[in-house]
Amino acid sequence: MESTAGRLTGKTALVTGAAGGIGAATAELFAREGARVVVADVNKDGAAATADRIRDDGGIAAPFAADVSDETQVAGLVTFAVEEFGGLDVLQNYASNRGVVPEDVSVADADLSVWTAQLSVDLLGCVLTSKYALPHMLEAGGGAITNSSSLAGWLSLGSRPAYATAKAGVVGFSKTLATQYGKQGIRCNVIAPGYIATPATEQMYDEKQTQVLFDHVSAPRLGRPDDVALAALFLASPESAFINGHVLVVDGGMSAYAPMLPSLRRLADEQ
Ligand SMILES: NC(=O)c1ccc[n+]([C@@H]2O[C@H](COP(=O)([O-])OP(=O)(O)OC[C@H]3O[C@@H](n4cnc5c(N)ncnc54)[C@H](O)[C@@H]3O)[C@@H](O)[C@H]2O)c1
Repeated sequence: MESTAGRLTGKTALVTGAAGGIGAATAELFAREGARVVVADVNKDGAAATADRIRDDGGIAAPFAADVSDETQVAGLVTFAVEEFGGLDVLQNYASNRGVVPEDVSVADADLSVWTAQLSVDLLGCVLTSKYALPHMLEAGGGAITNSSSLAGWLSLGSRPAYATAKAGVVGFSKTLATQYGKQGIRCNVIAPGYIATPATEQMYDEKQTQVLFDHVSAPRLGRPDDVALAALFLASPESAFINGHVLVVDGGMSAYAPMLPSLRRLADEQ
């Protein structure tokens, strides 16, 4: 992928959920842009593999195994980032609990433990990493935080109520953080991907379902992890210095049209 080198030179970035998918693509792009990257994930081997790829490519990275829903581990993660690289300028939250997808089906049936498992990683993970990163960013006079939401945060998938709630919560949390700390130079924005083909999502949708998703994208192809990483780079870089509390949708136009459009098009084709 082409990129403009050096937009994060001198910065330390902490990326959660960086063992694979969008988090790994973001960690790798940020390193190519000059950042020192802490590659964090509960998947220790996956985090190490991402960090190895970055270093093989000439970048600077350190892996760290941490569960973002565990406050003690998050405190240790942030301390590691600051001690390893001398500060923390950029925080990227992509950790997501996919383990509960099969049980996160309907409001009446989903056990409370499903809600707790989803919210504690996807929403409270953002809360905890921000809580421990903020003192360092405030001390440095600024910082950029990006949290991952999803179209599912405001457009119903018809299932996954806990996931939808977590991702909607990410928006409210991020806007509040942006408002509370903006005057002190801290920006907090949200990336809301539509369907992005990652190993995790490719497992969730079969060929026919993927075709349906493609039919609803106003773009010649499906989304890739790098599409989100490039948007994240913009939000982390000085180019977006006056953008705070924003939700940047990266969905190839999936949410751009009124829901009745496909049916109207079908009717028009039949006439
Ligand atoms: N891929 C998509 O289509 C899509 C769409 C909308 C939103 N998103 C969001 O973007 C983010 C990245 O998506 P992805 O497709 O790359 O997902 P993914 O499942 O590949 O990545 C999530 C990562 O989080 C890690 N993780 C899980 N629990 C954790 C924990 N407790 N502590 C630390 N790490 C943990 C996993 O090991 C995994 O590496 C997620 O927040 C996801 O909800 C993705």
